[in-house]
Amino acid sequence: MFMSNKLALFGGKPLVKDHKRLRLDWPIVDKSDYGAIKKAFDDRDFSGRGSKRISDLEYIFSKYYDGLYATALNSGTAALHLALISLGIKPGDEVIVPALTFVATAMSVIHNNSIPVFADIDRKNFNILPSSIEKNISKRTKAVIVVHLHGAPADMDPIIKICRKYKLKLIEDVAQAPGATYKGRKIGTFGDAAIFSLMSQKNLATCGECGILLNKSKNDKNRAEMARIYGEIVKSNTERIYNSYTLGWNYTLNPIQAAMAISQLKKFNKITNEIQYRARKLNNALNKFGWILPPVESEGTESVFHFYRFQLNSNYFDYKCVGRFRQAVQDALNAEGLNVRHYQKIPLAGQPFFQKNDINKELPWSLNSNSYIYNINDYPNTLEVINSTLILGAISSAPGYLLCPGTIEKYLLGFEKIDKNIHKLLSYADGIKYSEPWEEMKVISDSFGAKYGVFSSGG
Ligand SMILES: Cc1ncc(COP(=O)(O)O)c(C=O)c1O
Repeated sequence: MFMSNKLALFGGKPLVKDHKRLRLDWPIVDKSDYGAIKKAFDDRDFSGRGSKRISDLEYIFSKYYDGLYATALNSGTAALHLALISLGIKPGDEVIVPALTFVATAMSVIHNNSIPVFADIDRKNFNILPSSIEKNISKRTKAVIVVHLHGAPADMDPIIKICRKYKLKLIEDVAQAPGATYKGRKIGTFGDAAIFSLMSQKNLATCGECGILLNKSKNDKNRAEMARIYGEIVKSNTERIYNSYTLGWNYTLNPIQAAMAISQLKKFNKITNEIQYRARKLNNALNKFGWILPPVESEGTESVFHFYRFQLNSNYFDYKCVGRFRQAVQDALNAEGLNVRHYQKIPLAGQPFFQKNDINKELPWSLNSNSYIYNINDYPNTLEVINSTLILGAISSAPGYLLCPGTIEKYLLGFEKIDKNIHKLLSYADGIKYSEPWEEMKVISDSFGAKYGVFSSGG
């Protein structure tokens, strides 16, 4: 069939009429999921306090992860908080986290009244940079949280070496990377603790919210298990005696979500293989365009492509402003009905919560005499990655797009079309009203902050 080469952005016919058809609903569910949920409902297994379904999920997860100790929780964020608690990280301790991740990684540190210290990232795989971890270590540093962002494993050997040298606890945030491997070993088995999120958009997903904490030591797991439910010891088939031994929260998982998680785990390896096959096919096809750098699988690693984040390489045409080029490609693809989005436009440290001076005076910062003033210019690689990358899809994570029949082929047609019109698109890029993404975010923050009154006490 004849396809016009004129970009829709310049008046041509869009390649896709209905973007929604490029995506499968996620997670993929079948009769076995409905059956598992119905059974939990029919059993009236509504409370996770002592539920056998919860301990079954922990048992299965633990088996999948080489016998490490699993604690099922009601979110990945709760798992991060309890990872810190279980490893004895205290208020005022510093915890090194990457400057580019989902906010929960750093906010959970504050939940523990500990202090996040941000490290820069690697420009290629977008994960925490070992040399930046070392640069940020102080005498208060007690732990590092390494995030395997978008499903791509971080460089574990040097990170483990640094943690051993400085006697730091290592926590892996595997929310986006279950199934990924580093030198043949599963991501999540390297740290003193690892956390997973099974919320409904993750590669391994349930019908709602769910988190899992893995601990290397049984004592650490015991501490986490008590902190999950008010510091008590609550076991299935054992009478609850209502006696709190430690500080605890209510991070109990709902058994219906545990039932779905168990059912999804049975299909997880097969689905992960398909995701990897489709993502690598797209990677190979995109490699022919020198102006796109598809998501990297560093040597010896296997990614699970939770987000398909690709980088634009404007140096290929000697075009100086990568941000303008990124914006032009985004406009061109979106006009074709092939939506892509610019995800997280500012390093975490630049978000208002971490910047507000009135909050910075309160806990946990007031515990130390140091003042923690975060400056986004301390993370040049993070800024560059933010400026030069786009995420495939209008909403949600990559698997629903990658596994939808015909989708990657459609996106490829879009990239071909851009390639044929590249000089026209570069002229378009020159004319865009442009500011750096983090400057744009600052304007948004200021206007929302004023509207919601969150900056009323100064800051
Ligand atoms: C990297 C990362 N860490 C932590 C979380 C928090 O997980 P949850 O949403 O289950 O609390 C998420 C996702 O939401 C995440 O992407």
